[in-house]
Amino acid sequence: MRKQVKGNVSWVGYIDWDLETFHGDDYSIMNGSSQNAYLIEEEKTVLIDTVWVPHKQEFTENLKKEIDLDKIDFVIANHGECDHSGSLPALMELIPDKPVYCTANAVKSLEGQYGKRGWDFHVVKTGDTLDIGNGKTLTFIEMPMLHWPDSMATYMSGDNILFSNDAFGQHFAVEELFNDKADQCLLYKEAVKYFVNILNPFAPMVTRKLAEIEKLGLPIDMIAPSHGVIWREDPMQIVRKYAEWADAYQEDQVTVVYDTMWEGTAKLARKIAEELHKQSPETVVKVFSVAKTDKNEIMTEVFKSKAIAVGSPTVVNSILSGMAGWLEFLKQLKFKKKKAAAFGCYGWSGESVKILKEKLAEAGFDVAEEELRSQWNPDEEDLDKAAALAEALLK
Ligand code: FEO
Repeated sequence: MRKQVKGNVSWVGYIDWDLETFHGDDYSIMNGSSQNAYLIEEEKTVLIDTVWVPHKQEFTENLKKEIDLDKIDFVIANHGECDHSGSLPALMELIPDKPVYCTANAVKSLEGQYGKRGWDFHVVKTGDTLDIGNGKTLTFIEMPMLHWPDSMATYMSGDNILFSNDAFGQHFAVEELFNDKADQCLLYKEAVKYFVNILNPFAPMVTRKLAEIEKLGLPIDMIAPSHGVIWREDPMQIVRKYAEWADAYQEDQVTVVYDTMWEGTAKLARKIAEELHKQSPETVVKVFSVAKTDKNEIMTEVFKSKAIAVGSPTVVNSILSGMAGWLEFLKQLKFKKKKAAAFGCYGWSGESVKILKEKLAEAGFDVAEEELRSQWNPDEEDLDKAAALAEALLK
């Protein structure tokens, strides 16, 4: 069912209340999500993006109920990833001769996934325009690495809507579509989580792209991303947030992250948290077990932190496998300007803290020399060392 967005623009996407994970099982979905596709009906009829493969039948059936598909003049594929292009093959079987506007890289990603099907691709670059009648034009803006090399945004003049694709999105289901209708706490939580887990690795490109969009001087009344709410009330609030988040964002927070075998390293984690709070009562301190807390949620807390303490016991001359995987993800997210310290228990050889420090340095953290190693169960002397580690993180 279509929903009106503004003027002759409608939403024709799919709201996925049941979705539990995204990107395979790599991104946890706590509050549903959506794949937003848009239909513009000016003198020309334009479809921007489609929805994920499992919903292709529903998507094409719904679209057929709304319009005669032959009326579509242009299909725009802002991005080739299958959550937005997945229904394109089914749609293009019904309208095989319609032109598909996308970046040169999107031709590669679409043909790479769906094969060469003879679609009439029109490759566009930043600044290229398309007249859609009624005095309105679409302007294309390449958005490479936000978050794929093929990504682009489409700007519609007259109604001043930026169809930003993944940028400014959230995995968040809101039936009423608009940001002012959403639970504001959840909206902020999901927007940050999305930025951290999807866009933070490309933060320098976000900064450059925001400056470029500002230079284009396009009036923006609405930002319509391909997931989550459409920003219609103060749409630039999310642009301001992205500028802040992309600039080595941090709050007065320290996060302690650990994995444990027999509770020794967990005890150290709690002691470090206690010391952090004692030395800096205003600082927000949070403690998470990587085995028990969702990794995307922990990463969001790491993003907000100025420093982290990371702990694992030694196991087979190394660290626990859950922590090893978590550290690999930490490296991928490319956090900047954050401190870190390592801690852990051991019975025999005791390499874990050294390994943690190496991995934290590889992940771009400024690693403190101070460390907390404890043989067997932490005793008073070990626990007393937590004070020095906390001090190093707060320095
Ligand atoms: Fe929402 Fe990169 O796809």
